[in-house]
Amino acid sequence: MHAIRAENLSKSFDGRVVLDNVSFSVEKGDIFGYLGPNGAGKTTTINLFLGLLTPDGGTATVNGADLGSDDEARRRIGVLFENNGFSERQSAYENLRYYGRLYGMEDPDSRVDELLGMIGLNDRAADPVGTFSTGMKRKLGIARAILHKPDLLFLDEPSSGLDPDAQRMVRDLILSLASSGGMTVFINSHHLDEVQRICSRVAILAGGQIQAEDSVARLTASGKERTVWIAFEGGNASEHVILAVQNLPMVERAEREGEGIICTLTGEGRVPDLISALVAAGFRIEEAKKQSANLEEIYLRYVHSGEEAS
Ligand SMILES: Nc1ncnc2c1ncn2[C@@H]1O[C@H](COP(=O)(O)OP(=O)(O)OP(=O)(O)O)[C@@H](O)[C@H]1O
Ligand SMILES: [Mg+2]
Repeated sequence: MHAIRAENLSKSFDGRVVLDNVSFSVEKGDIFGYLGPNGAGKTTTINLFLGLLTPDGGTATVNGADLGSDDEARRRIGVLFENNGFSERQSAYENLRYYGRLYGMEDPDSRVDELLGMIGLNDRAADPVGTFSTGMKRKLGIARAILHKPDLLFLDEPSSGLDPDAQRMVRDLILSLASSGGMTVFINSHHLDEVQRICSRVAILAGGQIQAEDSVARLTASGKERTVWIAFEGGNASEHVILAVQNLPMVERAEREGEGIICTLTGEGRVPDLISALVAAGFRIEEAKKQSANLEEIYLRYVHSGEEAS
Protein backbone atom coordinates (compact mmCIF):
# COMPACT_ATOMS: atom_id res chain seq x y z
CA MET A 1 0.00 0.00 0.00
CA HIS A 2 1.21 3.50 -0.83
CA ALA A 3 1.64 5.91 2.09
CA ILE A 4 0.13 8.69 0.00
CA ARG A 5 -1.81 8.31 -3.22
CA ALA A 6 -3.58 10.75 -5.49
CA GLU A 7 -5.62 9.16 -8.24
CA ASN A 8 -7.11 11.29 -11.02
CA LEU A 9 -7.55 14.10 -8.56
CA SER A 10 -9.42 17.10 -9.95
CA LYS A 11 -10.37 20.39 -8.33
CA SER A 12 -11.72 23.67 -9.67
CA PHE A 13 -12.57 26.88 -7.88
CA ASP A 14 -15.27 29.05 -9.45
CA GLY A 15 -14.85 27.31 -12.79
CA ARG A 16 -11.05 27.72 -12.76
CA VAL A 17 -9.33 24.37 -13.02
CA VAL A 18 -6.53 24.01 -10.46
CA LEU A 19 -5.95 20.25 -10.53
CA ASP A 20 -6.73 18.33 -13.68
CA ASN A 21 -6.53 14.55 -13.24
CA VAL A 22 -3.51 14.56 -10.97
CA SER A 23 -2.05 11.18 -10.00
CA PHE A 24 1.08 10.33 -8.03
CA SER A 25 2.09 8.14 -5.14
CA VAL A 26 4.54 8.23 -2.26
CA GLU A 27 6.04 5.13 -0.64
CA LYS A 28 6.36 4.73 3.11
CA GLY A 29 9.59 6.27 4.43
CA ASP A 30 10.09 8.49 1.39
CA ILE A 31 10.75 12.20 1.59
CA PHE A 32 8.68 13.48 -1.31
CA GLY A 33 9.02 16.98 -2.74
CA TYR A 34 5.92 18.48 -4.33
CA LEU A 35 7.04 21.37 -6.51
CA GLY A 36 5.31 23.96 -8.63
CA PRO A 37 4.95 27.70 -9.14
CA ASN A 38 2.83 29.98 -6.95
CA GLY A 39 -0.81 29.13 -7.42
CA ALA A 40 -0.10 25.75 -9.02
CA GLY A 41 -2.28 23.92 -6.50
CA LYS A 42 0.23 22.49 -4.00
CA THR A 43 -1.57 23.68 -0.88
CA THR A 44 -4.88 22.69 -2.46
CA THR A 45 -3.50 19.16 -2.90
CA ILE A 46 -2.51 18.96 0.78
CA ASN A 47 -5.95 20.22 1.79
CA LEU A 48 -7.53 17.50 -0.32
CA PHE A 49 -5.38 14.86 1.40
CA LEU A 50 -6.31 16.22 4.81
CA GLY A 51 -10.00 16.12 3.95
CA LEU A 52 -10.30 19.89 4.38
CA LEU A 53 -11.43 20.17 0.75
CA THR A 54 -13.51 17.73 -1.27
CA PRO A 55 -12.25 16.77 -4.73
CA ASP A 56 -14.46 17.29 -7.79
CA GLY A 57 -13.18 13.95 -9.02
CA GLY A 58 -10.70 11.26 -8.10
CA THR A 59 -9.36 10.22 -4.71
CA ALA A 60 -6.70 11.33 -2.24
CA THR A 61 -5.78 8.68 0.31
CA VAL A 62 -3.23 8.46 3.11
CA ASN A 63 -2.23 4.97 4.26
CA GLY A 64 -5.21 3.80 2.24
CA ALA A 65 -7.63 5.92 4.27
CA ASP A 66 -9.73 8.96 3.47
CA LEU A 67 -8.71 11.47 6.15
CA GLY A 68 -11.93 13.40 5.70
CA SER A 69 -13.90 10.56 7.26
CA ASP A 70 -11.33 8.59 9.28
CA ASP A 71 -10.45 10.28 12.60
CA GLU A 72 -8.12 7.51 13.68
CA ALA A 73 -6.06 7.78 10.48
CA ARG A 74 -5.95 11.56 10.88
CA ARG A 75 -4.34 11.23 14.33
CA ARG A 76 -1.32 9.55 12.78
CA ILE A 77 -0.65 12.55 10.54
CA GLY A 78 1.33 15.68 11.38
CA VAL A 79 0.77 18.91 9.47
CA LEU A 80 2.64 22.17 9.09
CA PHE A 81 0.17 24.57 7.51
CA GLU A 82 1.21 27.34 5.15
CA ASN A 83 -0.03 29.95 7.64
CA ASN A 84 0.88 28.13 10.90
CA GLY A 85 -2.60 28.53 12.39
CA PHE A 86 -1.71 29.30 16.00
CA SER A 87 -3.73 31.20 18.53
CA GLU A 88 -1.72 34.43 18.61
CA ARG A 89 -2.86 35.47 22.07
CA GLN A 90 -1.81 32.24 23.73
CA SER A 91 1.77 31.42 24.60
CA ALA A 92 3.94 29.00 22.66
CA TYR A 93 3.64 26.57 25.54
CA GLU A 94 -0.16 26.82 25.73
CA ASN A 95 -0.50 26.41 21.99
CA LEU A 96 1.58 23.24 21.89
CA ARG A 97 -0.13 21.81 24.94
CA TYR A 98 -3.53 22.50 23.41
CA TYR A 99 -2.61 20.59 20.26
CA GLY A 100 -1.08 17.78 22.30
CA ARG A 101 -4.41 17.30 24.05
CA LEU A 102 -6.24 17.56 20.76
CA TYR A 103 -4.12 14.71 19.44
CA GLY A 104 -5.09 12.64 22.46
CA MET A 105 -1.85 12.93 24.45
CA GLU A 106 -2.63 12.55 28.14
CA ASP A 107 0.31 14.48 29.48
CA PRO A 108 1.95 16.48 26.69
CA ASP A 109 4.07 18.72 29.00
CA SER A 110 7.36 16.87 28.88
CA ARG A 111 7.11 16.44 25.11
CA VAL A 112 6.29 20.15 24.76
CA ASP A 113 9.38 21.02 26.82
CA GLU A 114 11.52 18.71 24.75
CA LEU A 115 10.35 20.24 21.47
CA LEU A 116 10.64 23.85 22.66
CA GLY A 117 14.23 23.03 23.62
CA MET A 118 14.87 21.43 20.26
CA ILE A 119 13.75 24.53 18.33
CA GLY A 120 15.56 26.86 20.75
CA LEU A 121 12.44 28.62 22.02
CA ASN A 122 12.49 27.55 25.68
CA ASP A 123 13.11 31.08 26.88
CA ARG A 124 10.15 32.40 24.88
CA ALA A 125 7.77 29.61 25.88
CA ALA A 126 5.56 31.88 27.97
CA ASP A 127 5.30 34.68 25.37
CA PRO A 128 2.18 35.05 23.20
CA VAL A 129 2.77 33.60 19.72
CA GLY A 130 1.57 36.95 18.28
CA THR A 131 4.85 38.49 19.46
CA PHE A 132 6.98 35.94 17.58
CA SER A 133 8.95 36.56 14.40
CA THR A 134 8.02 34.76 11.16
CA GLY A 135 10.78 32.20 11.60
CA MET A 136 9.95 31.57 15.26
CA LYS A 137 6.34 30.81 14.32
CA ARG A 138 7.58 28.49 11.60
CA LYS A 139 9.75 26.58 14.04
CA LEU A 140 6.85 26.32 16.45
CA GLY A 141 4.69 25.03 13.61
CA ILE A 142 7.20 22.29 12.91
CA ALA A 143 7.30 21.38 16.60
CA ARG A 144 3.53 21.11 16.59
CA ALA A 145 3.55 18.91 13.49
CA ILE A 146 5.72 16.28 15.20
CA LEU A 147 4.34 16.69 18.73
CA HIS A 148 2.37 13.45 18.77
CA LYS A 149 5.03 11.47 16.88
CA PRO A 150 2.99 10.91 13.72
CA ASP A 151 4.13 8.45 11.09
CA LEU A 152 3.41 10.78 8.18
CA LEU A 153 4.07 14.49 7.82
CA PHE A 154 2.68 17.10 5.45
CA LEU A 155 4.91 20.17 5.46
CA ASP A 156 3.77 23.20 3.47
CA GLU A 157 6.87 25.34 2.84
CA PRO A 158 8.75 24.24 5.98
CA SER A 159 11.74 26.51 5.50
CA SER A 160 9.95 29.70 4.49
CA GLY A 161 11.15 32.52 6.71
CA LEU A 162 13.87 30.48 8.37
CA ASP A 163 17.45 31.70 8.72
CA PRO A 164 20.22 29.44 7.35
CA ASP A 165 20.89 27.90 10.76
CA ALA A 166 17.24 27.06 11.27
CA GLN A 167 16.97 25.75 7.69
CA ARG A 168 19.75 23.33 8.44
CA MET A 169 18.11 22.31 11.71
CA VAL A 170 14.85 21.58 9.92
CA ARG A 171 16.64 19.71 7.14
CA ASP A 172 18.51 17.53 9.62
CA LEU A 173 15.34 16.96 11.59
CA ILE A 174 13.39 15.84 8.52
CA LEU A 175 16.20 13.52 7.45
CA SER A 176 16.47 11.95 10.90
CA LEU A 177 12.71 11.51 11.23
CA ALA A 178 12.64 9.68 7.92
CA SER A 179 15.76 7.59 8.39
CA SER A 180 15.48 6.58 12.05
CA GLY A 181 11.73 6.81 12.52
CA GLY A 182 10.63 5.57 9.09
CA MET A 183 8.42 8.60 8.79
CA THR A 184 6.97 9.51 5.40
CA VAL A 185 7.32 13.21 4.60
CA PHE A 186 5.45 15.19 1.95
CA ILE A 187 6.98 18.62 1.39
CA ASN A 188 5.69 21.58 -0.62
CA SER A 189 8.67 23.74 -1.30
CA HIS A 190 10.19 26.43 -3.48
CA HIS A 191 13.68 25.85 -2.04
CA LEU A 192 14.98 23.63 -4.78
CA ASP A 193 18.47 23.24 -3.38
CA GLU A 194 16.94 22.03 -0.15
CA VAL A 195 14.63 19.67 -2.03
CA GLN A 196 17.59 18.33 -3.99
CA ARG A 197 19.42 17.66 -0.73
CA ILE A 198 16.73 15.88 1.24
CA CYS A 199 14.03 14.53 -1.06
CA SER A 200 14.28 11.08 -2.57
CA ARG A 201 11.52 11.71 -5.09
CA VAL A 202 9.72 14.73 -6.49
CA ALA A 203 6.68 15.59 -8.53
CA ILE A 204 6.43 18.83 -10.49
CA LEU A 205 2.97 20.34 -10.78
CA ALA A 206 2.26 23.01 -13.41
CA GLY A 207 -0.67 23.88 -15.61
CA GLY A 208 -2.91 21.70 -13.40
CA GLN A 209 -1.00 18.52 -14.20
CA ILE A 210 1.99 16.53 -13.01
CA GLN A 211 4.76 17.33 -15.48
CA ALA A 212 7.30 14.93 -14.01
CA GLU A 213 7.47 12.44 -11.16
CA ASP A 214 10.73 10.67 -10.50
CA SER A 215 13.71 10.27 -8.20
CA VAL A 216 15.82 13.39 -7.85
CA ALA A 217 18.84 11.43 -9.08
CA ARG A 218 17.13 10.32 -12.28
CA LEU A 219 15.61 13.70 -13.03
CA THR A 220 18.90 15.52 -12.67
CA ALA A 221 20.89 12.87 -14.53
CA SER A 222 18.51 12.76 -17.48
CA GLY A 223 17.94 16.46 -17.68
CA LYS A 224 21.04 17.75 -19.35
CA GLU A 225 23.03 16.83 -22.39
CA ARG A 226 25.85 14.64 -21.22
CA THR A 227 28.58 16.82 -19.84
CA VAL A 228 31.86 15.99 -18.20
CA TRP A 229 34.38 18.21 -16.47
CA ILE A 230 38.03 17.37 -17.06
CA ALA A 231 41.16 18.76 -15.43
CA PHE A 232 44.62 18.10 -16.82
CA GLU A 233 47.88 17.58 -15.02
CA GLY A 234 49.84 20.79 -14.71
CA GLY A 235 46.90 23.10 -14.03
CA ASN A 236 45.00 25.48 -16.26
CA ALA A 237 43.87 24.14 -19.61
CA SER A 238 45.32 26.27 -22.42
CA GLU A 239 43.48 27.48 -25.52
CA HIS A 240 45.37 24.87 -27.45
CA VAL A 241 44.00 22.08 -25.23
CA ILE A 242 40.45 23.40 -25.47
CA LEU A 243 40.71 23.54 -29.25
CA ALA A 244 42.09 20.00 -29.43
CA VAL A 245 39.26 18.68 -27.25
CA GLN A 246 36.70 20.64 -29.24
CA ASN A 247 37.89 18.87 -32.39
CA LEU A 248 37.36 15.34 -31.07
CA PRO A 249 34.47 13.62 -32.86
CA MET A 250 32.47 12.79 -29.73
CA VAL A 251 32.66 16.36 -28.40
CA GLU A 252 29.99 18.86 -29.30
CA ARG A 253 31.37 21.75 -27.28
CA ALA A 254 34.29 22.41 -24.95
CA GLU A 255 34.82 25.44 -22.77
CA ARG A 256 36.91 26.48 -19.83
CA GLU A 257 35.45 26.10 -16.37
CA GLY A 258 37.62 26.69 -13.35
CA GLU A 259 40.94 24.88 -13.69
CA GLY A 260 39.60 22.47 -16.29
CA ILE A 261 37.27 22.31 -19.23
CA ILE A 262 33.68 21.29 -19.48
CA CYS A 263 32.86 19.06 -22.46
CA THR A 264 29.41 18.51 -23.82
CA LEU A 265 29.24 15.20 -25.67
CA THR A 266 27.33 14.57 -28.88
CA GLY A 267 24.28 12.29 -28.81
CA GLU A 268 26.44 9.24 -29.53
CA GLY A 269 29.42 10.40 -27.48
CA ARG A 270 30.36 8.38 -24.42
CA VAL A 271 32.58 9.45 -21.56
CA PRO A 272 34.99 6.44 -21.75
CA ASP A 273 35.52 7.11 -25.47
CA LEU A 274 36.36 10.73 -24.73
CA ILE A 275 38.86 9.70 -22.02
CA SER A 276 40.50 7.15 -24.36
CA ALA A 277 40.76 9.69 -27.15
CA LEU A 278 42.35 12.24 -24.82
CA VAL A 279 44.85 9.72 -23.48
CA ALA A 280 45.65 8.57 -27.03
CA ALA A 281 46.30 12.19 -28.00
CA GLY A 282 48.85 12.43 -25.20
CA PHE A 283 46.86 14.38 -22.62
CA ARG A 284 47.43 13.53 -18.96
CA ILE A 285 44.14 13.67 -17.09
CA GLU A 286 44.16 14.71 -13.45
CA GLU A 287 40.44 14.42 -12.78
CA ALA A 288 37.20 13.76 -14.67
CA LYS A 289 33.72 14.29 -13.28
CA LYS A 290 30.35 13.71 -14.86
CA GLN A 291 28.10 16.70 -14.35
CA SER A 292 24.41 16.48 -13.69
CA ALA A 293 21.93 19.30 -14.03
CA ASN A 294 20.65 20.87 -10.87
CA LEU A 295 17.03 20.51 -9.93
CA GLU A 296 16.34 24.16 -10.64
CA GLU A 297 17.13 23.79 -14.36
CA ILE A 298 14.94 20.71 -14.62
CA TYR A 299 12.16 22.37 -12.66
CA LEU A 300 12.13 25.48 -14.85
CA ARG A 301 12.06 23.44 -18.01
CA TYR A 302 9.07 21.33 -16.89
CA VAL A 303 7.20 24.29 -15.48
CA HIS A 304 7.58 26.34 -18.66
CA SER A 305 6.51 23.52 -20.94
CA GLY A 306 3.60 22.66 -18.58
CA GLU A 307 2.36 26.22 -18.49
CA GLU A 308 2.60 26.59 -22.27
CA ALA A 309 0.56 23.41 -22.78
CA SER A 310 -2.25 24.45 -20.41
N1 LIG B 1 -10.69 28.23 -1.16
C1 LIG B 1 -10.39 28.70 -2.37
N2 LIG B 1 -11.29 29.41 -3.08
C2 LIG B 1 -11.00 29.88 -4.32
N3 LIG B 1 -9.82 29.70 -4.93
C3 LIG B 1 -8.88 29.01 -4.26
C4 LIG B 1 -9.10 28.47 -2.95
N4 LIG B 1 -7.98 27.83 -2.55
C5 LIG B 1 -7.11 27.96 -3.56
N5 LIG B 1 -7.64 28.65 -4.58
C6 LIG B 1 -6.96 28.94 -5.88
O1 LIG B 1 -6.36 27.76 -6.34
C7 LIG B 1 -5.11 28.04 -6.96
C8 LIG B 1 -4.04 27.18 -6.28
O2 LIG B 1 -3.80 27.66 -4.97
P1 LIG B 1 -2.80 26.94 -3.98
O3 LIG B 1 -2.85 27.69 -2.70
O4 LIG B 1 -3.10 25.49 -3.94
O5 LIG B 1 -1.40 27.17 -4.73
P2 LIG B 1 0.06 26.78 -4.26
O6 LIG B 1 0.64 25.89 -5.30
O7 LIG B 1 0.05 26.29 -2.86
O8 LIG B 1 0.80 28.20 -4.36
P3 LIG B 1 1.95 28.86 -3.43
O9 LIG B 1 3.25 28.35 -3.95
O10 LIG B 1 1.79 30.32 -3.69
O11 LIG B 1 1.69 28.49 -2.01
C9 LIG B 1 -4.91 29.54 -6.84
O12 LIG B 1 -5.34 30.12 -8.05
C10 LIG B 1 -5.83 29.95 -5.72
O13 LIG B 1 -6.30 31.25 -5.89
MG1 LIG C 1 0.81 26.99 -1.13
